Amino acid sequence: MLAIYFSAVAGYFLITIERNKMKISLGALAGVALIALSGQALAADELKVGKKIYDRAFGRGCGACHDIASNPQLASLIKAGELDLASFSNTLKNGKNGMPKAVAAIMAVGPVKKAGYSEDEAIAAVYKYLSK
Ligand code: HEC
Repeated sequence: MLAIYFSAVAGYFLITIERNKMKISLGALAGVALIALSGQALAADELKVGKKIYDRAFGRGCGACHDIASNPQLASLIKAGELDLASFSNTLKNGKNGMPKAVAAIMAVGPVKKAGYSEDEAIAAVYKYLSK
């Protein structure tokens, strides 16, 4: 929203300084506002898909094993900066001891298919969900 506010203020000054170019300034202003809005919508969608992955992959979701009891506390590790996206992704793609490979299960989640995400986009979405 800040971006829209600033572009609105900038747009206002452009309009008052150059009245004869008003149409052009307004057009640019609308464009900037649209880009800012669609960026926000995409981020919100990514979080939603990430939550669906976390809740539904493998049927019972990642939380069947994680963020309870003794298995890695994904959300806490990510928030503490102790689990980066690269190793998160590596574990999902290759598995790790008791952790099964998860990419097929993630790609089978309905909203992931609907969003048309690639494997890396789906992994990034659940990572983002866990880091919020
Ligand atoms: C069947 C139980 C189970 C399910 C379901 C499961 N995990 Fe795991 N996961 C584990 C176990 C056990 C480990 C610990 C492996 C080890 O380090 O020995 C682990 C480790 C991980 C790690 C590595 C953590 C680190 O500190 O390196 C990540 C990342 C991970 N899981 C993500 C996920 C995600 C995301 C999902 C859901 C798509 C998921 N897991 C579903 C059991 C599970």
